[in-house]
Amino acid sequence: MNILGIDVGGTGIKGAVIDTAIGELIGERLRLESPRPATPESVGVTIQSLVEQHRWSGPVGIGFPAAIQRGIARTAANIDSSFIGLPVADYFAKQTGCPVYVANDADVAGLAEIRFGAGKDVAGVVLVVTIGTGLGTALFSDGHLLPNTELGHIVLDNGLEAERYASEAVRDAQQLKWKDWGDRFNHYLVAMEKLFWPDLIVLGGGASKKLHKFASRITVQAPVVPARFLNQAGMIGAALFAGEKWGATGQNLP
Ligand code: BGC
Repeated sequence: MNILGIDVGGTGIKGAVIDTAIGELIGERLRLESPRPATPESVGVTIQSLVEQHRWSGPVGIGFPAAIQRGIARTAANIDSSFIGLPVADYFAKQTGCPVYVANDADVAGLAEIRFGAGKDVAGVVLVVTIGTGLGTALFSDGHLLPNTELGHIVLDNGLEAERYASEAVRDAQQLKWKDWGDRFNHYLVAMEKLFWPDLIVLGGGASKKLHKFASRITVQAPVVPARFLNQAGMIGAALFAGEKWGATGQNLP
């Protein structure tokens, strides 16, 4: 089944048509700048232009940077606060005219890795951390997701919120060297390990391509590996999520 997968990020909104049977991109990936401020209207217009540029009229899956409960956004750390309480799936469906399914961006990136990537067939607890404007997390036990974990917002023992200390955005803004940022990120992973004892930690987002630059700073016991799909995991997982929901409603694809 082919589905348009869209990843809404702090700096870019990316979309590609995905073959959900194999988790691979079909054709090109398009990326548009994230609007500022990222209001429902402006994000909706950007999503609509991605749909139009792909000449797409089928189901759309969206990975969105907020806790999403039954299609409704509950948080807004790096997007406009007017998203809170908005039924985002319905909102983007009206805007695009397509059936739209929305889930948390890190959860869907994790789904891609669990189904087809670094977490495939891994027994036990897998923690996926996406490193970008925020720190996103997805927590799986034997392949089952506990949604909306939002563990990028925990307060570390230095009194700082993790995503304000160890995100990609902080590394950029403070121009930290990879090793120095790696120490911060390791501080975060150590805190995660003490709480969840994952069997595997998978890193997604832009920094996952640079793991070799900070791997020497990582001291957790769990193996830490880059996402197989690197920063494309969000788009792929968004399509997989939509495919699973679409299948569950028993609707036939056009
Ligand atoms: C948001 C999460 C999101 C993460 C990565 C955090 O600020 O609260 O919902 O998954 O950023 O985008």
